[in-house]
Amino acid sequence: MKKVGIIGVGEYLPKKVLTNADLEKMVDTSDEWITTRTGIKQRRMVGRGEATSDLAIKAAKRAIAETSIKPEELDLIIVATITPDMAFPSVACLLQNALHAKHAISFDISAACAGFVYAIAVAQQFIARGGCRNALVVGAEVLSSITDWKDRNTCVLFGDGAGAAVLAEAKSGGILSTYLGSDGSKADLLRLPGGGSRHPATQATIKKRLHFIKMQGNELFKLAVTTMANAAQQALKRAGMECKDIDMVIPHQANMRIILAMAKKLGLAKEKIYFNIAKYGNMSSASTATALCEAVKEGRIKKGDVVLLDAFGSGLVWGACVIRW
Ligand code: UT7
Repeated sequence: MKKVGIIGVGEYLPKKVLTNADLEKMVDTSDEWITTRTGIKQRRMVGRGEATSDLAIKAAKRAIAETSIKPEELDLIIVATITPDMAFPSVACLLQNALHAKHAISFDISAACAGFVYAIAVAQQFIARGGCRNALVVGAEVLSSITDWKDRNTCVLFGDGAGAAVLAEAKSGGILSTYLGSDGSKADLLRLPGGGSRHPATQATIKKRLHFIKMQGNELFKLAVTTMANAAQQALKRAGMECKDIDMVIPHQANMRIILAMAKKLGLAKEKIYFNIAKYGNMSSASTATALCEAVKEGRIKKGDVVLLDAFGSGLVWGACVIRW
């Protein structure tokens, strides 16, 4: 099996900023509540007419520009998203067309907030087994399109953005282990009930607000802490490593308190964790993707460092990945 590494990263955040002060004018909330309960100060929002593929294209172009690979040389494109431009075709196919990556196999992955880690694990398999030479993996979301702006329990949490990574054969290091899991018995805890084949869009589904995120935050909170801590331990075990060997953790950014509680369970110092939740909120698959990109760009991840990606989300799904940078 070939070794597989990440050779380029890129991100794109839409320009419009929605602050906690803006939300105070929209629902019964406060900057104090949002900051202390979640760690979020602001989030980015798409402009009118801007969709998930528009963000994905910009992040992907930046990641590809960091490599010597030309778009027409891409063998595989995977987009992790729960907010595609439309039910079909996939965002990956729209991206393939925009990049003129005409030789790439293209498909989307639906694994919510763990989508970017899932996509990396799938791309790794394709390259390691020799089926593809390289892969473009993107986490892109326009969560503002499925956010109920009248529900203070959820509307303060989410944001829009995209992050991308290019994977290719590595001479040394690269992805040392992956660990993925799921538990569909808890699917009800976080879902978008309307617009699929169960509840196709009708005036009644719109009236019942079924086309917006429904979440039982409290239940998820506890599960997120234990599941992410366990996923980290399992991925490290598969890599033959321990927590002390990690240089930088890139966790899913759902809630600052979830990340800190997970870190406490693992005995991880805060300095070894990358946070971008204050700036962007929870962007589902795009959270880990942008956090990885920013950590690299800011020099928080250097060549030879051991990086842990760790994510958890609706499904339930979870995934962790250990990478020697
Ligand atoms: O992305 C992956 C999966 N997602 C997650 O893992 C999310 C996990 N959950 C969370 O991050 C937290 O549960 C939340 C941030 C969603 C909520 O925080 P919490 O500390 O669990 O609050 P809560 O839901 O227990 O609500 C506490 C109180 C309630 O009032 P009462 O019933 O105690 O009077 C809520 O109505 O806070 C109230 N509340 C708010 N107050 C002001 C809920 N949302 C707001 C708000 N502003 N925006």
